[in-house]
Amino acid sequence: MSVHNEVKKVTTHRLSEMKLRGEKIAMLTSYDFSMASLVDDAGIDVLLVGDSASNVMAGNETTLPITLDQMIYHGASVVKGVKRALVVVDMPFGTYQGNSLEALTSAIRIMKEAAADAVKLEGGSEVIESVNRILSAGIPVMGHLGLMPQSIHKFGTYSVRAKEEAEAEKLLNDARLLEEAGCFAIVLEKIPARLGSQVASELKIPVIGIGAGNGVDGQVLVIHDMLGITQQFSPRFLRRYHNLAAEIKGAVGNYIQDVKSSDFPNEKEQY
Ligand code: KIV
Repeated sequence: MSVHNEVKKVTTHRLSEMKLRGEKIAMLTSYDFSMASLVDDAGIDVLLVGDSASNVMAGNETTLPITLDQMIYHGASVVKGVKRALVVVDMPFGTYQGNSLEALTSAIRIMKEAAADAVKLEGGSEVIESVNRILSAGIPVMGHLGLMPQSIHKFGTYSVRAKEEAEAEKLLNDARLLEEAGCFAIVLEKIPARLGSQVASELKIPVIGIGAGNGVDGQVLVIHDMLGITQQFSPRFLRRYHNLAAEIKGAVGNYIQDVKSSDFPNEKEQY
């Protein structure tokens, strides 16, 4: 391999340099080897093995049912397809909230068994003990504030978060706390754009938004949503870059027709 072909892996340090020079960070989710290698080849900076796998891969209504073993399976599959992007794996519900030792054990399993580059978890002051313990083992942590889907049963809706001053103040304090603890980045989900900009300008670490406006340091979307594979989910923040559902159904329809009409396989497609 020539020097020019060498792929320079994205690191947490590189992300902070990107923030410093005002270069936006592009992040997407992936859950399997084939999709991850395509998205990595396309030049994505960060690949998130999100617990949204619970929704888009397993068909669950919430992110709560997905297990640590399942996240490790998805994480290991993604890591094998990636040469350049930083791979972050979500810590699933119930593996870090109540007990910082269990949090550390879960994070170590993700790093060892999936060979991830970092972990992500939801929450601020409530989980800071777990964050500190994971960081103390040298494991990079990405925070996640705003709409936290693992807490859906506490709030009851997926509506915009931190519209009221008290909640916005708590979010800002939690963001400061996560930065002080040593998190390398924070995801902000579904909050007013003004608050997103405020957090991003106050913090030195990169702030990645999903429905947090354009004043943050980067954006993340769920790959199934932005490619138009999921069809019912259409929040305001989602930009669809393709209608893959229609393309897949069209191609499968053509295949069915060719099989039924005995057009497939033809002479060149057999031995
Ligand atoms: O699980 C996930 O896909 C996420 C993103 C929405 C940020 O946490």
